[in-house]
Amino acid sequence: MERAAQYFDEASSADVVNARMSDDADARLRQVMSVLVKHLHAAVKEIEPTHEEWFTAIRFLTETGQMCTDWRQEYILLSDILGVSMLVDAINHRRPSGATPNTILGPFYVANAPEYSNGENICLDGKGEPMMVEGCVTDIEGNPIPNAKLEVWQTNDDGFYDVQQKGIQPDSNLRGVFTSDAEGRYCFKSVKPRHYPIPADGPVGKLLAAMGRHPNRAAHLHFIVTAPGFEPVITHIFTPDCPYLTEDAVFGVKRELIADFNKVDDARAAKRAGFSSPFWSVSWDFTLANSSKAEQAIP
Ligand code: BEZ
Ligand code: FE
Repeated sequence: MERAAQYFDEASSADVVNARMSDDADARLRQVMSVLVKHLHAAVKEIEPTHEEWFTAIRFLTETGQMCTDWRQEYILLSDILGVSMLVDAINHRRPSGATPNTILGPFYVANAPEYSNGENICLDGKGEPMMVEGCVTDIEGNPIPNAKLEVWQTNDDGFYDVQQKGIQPDSNLRGVFTSDAEGRYCFKSVKPRHYPIPADGPVGKLLAAMGRHPNRAAHLHFIVTAPGFEPVITHIFTPDCPYLTEDAVFGVKRELIADFNKVDDARAAKRAGFSSPFWSVSWDFTLANSSKAEQAIP
């Protein structure tokens, strides 16, 4: 269809830009770009930036791109601290009530971590307060799911992941893969996680500081739990005593993911669990939702 030629002016700016898009452009791209242009122009009209301020924004985006490498994704970090990563995750993982909710993946997941037998210890540097985590993987009706794969990873007691401290921490420190047994049970030893800052030495860290925000994540353990026929769960469990629970830098905390951490200060119980000192006992069950029919069809 012929479009009326329209020159650009302040009032009609977004409409003029969007009218340039071809009817032949991919329908989803048209939708995405027209919404983005509409809201971007509305934001610029509300903010009324000076040229200098607009250039500061351009420089920030340039530096964010320049910070990106194979192992450092500063744009994802930006999306994280703006709450966009959690919003996209929420939109894409609306689960039935009772199912374990998702939260952010984070940049420190490593595929193919070492496989362990239930009960083994993933802490290889001997630092931190010993912890035993055990529980069950079930479906929504409470039926156990045997052979579920549980991938776990966390920081060490200094607040760093192994991949952030190559040559300082043992390789694969505090990460491993467990498999639920015939009753759906899993169990492993580790150390109580502590809070730690997200990487804050780049433009996103500077932006956080300029906004008067701290970079800390509430103390957590990461999990990916998968089983055939069920929706994979990418999640965390959080310690209940962390001062950053309600102000996690990336908005990753959900009330349902805060676990009970019980201190066991009994020499015989410690010995039975294979510890020589008091330890933290965490009981945590994962509840998986059935995957949709379409997903189940994927081999
Ligand atoms: C993490 O939990 O590992 C993480 C998540 C988002 C940004 C940085 C780190
Ligand atoms: Fe983390």
